[in-house]
Amino acid sequence: MAKVLVGFMGSGKSTIAELLDPDFVDMDAVITDKIGMSIADFFVEKGEVAFRQIEAVTLAELLTSQHVLSTGGGVVTSAANRDLLSQHADVVYLRADFATLYERMAADTSNQRPLFLNNSRADLEAIFQERQAWYEEVATQIVDVAGKSPVEIMEEIR
Ligand code: S3P
Repeated sequence: MAKVLVGFMGSGKSTIAELLDPDFVDMDAVITDKIGMSIADFFVEKGEVAFRQIEAVTLAELLTSQHVLSTGGGVVTSAANRDLLSQHADVVYLRADFATLYERMAADTSNQRPLFLNNSRADLEAIFQERQAWYEEVATQIVDVAGKSPVEIMEEIR
């Protein structure tokens, strides 16, 4: 079964995936290759609904991979995606409090996330709250990541 990391933006999915499996697959990178532009530009040009369609197709394609898969934070917003994850993956939810995640998103200037750019802090926190139950629904393991080093988190997952 595919091992899949889920969690809100800034939870460290790609960093931990790389530690678990140097040949991990980053879903957002696969999508970026497919669309031929950054996700931020794609949101501006085609909108979030179009992004979610490509994300759903890409998830289904990648779930057969033997490698660890890191997902985008919004993958759980689709019920169909949650069903796929529940049925076909061993899902680890990297959980943290909103303040920690917000600080990390703000500091990550090399990755300009459209939801971060386009929402107030309060709106983003509402999105975060709404997603909690969905992350928990698909998770087979929940790891609290705030205050832990990447290696500590990796060891907890293994
Ligand atoms: C999104 C998270 C992003 C990316 C897109 C939408 C989201 O991935 O897929 O900007 O809805 O939470 P990361 O969680 O890797 O930042």
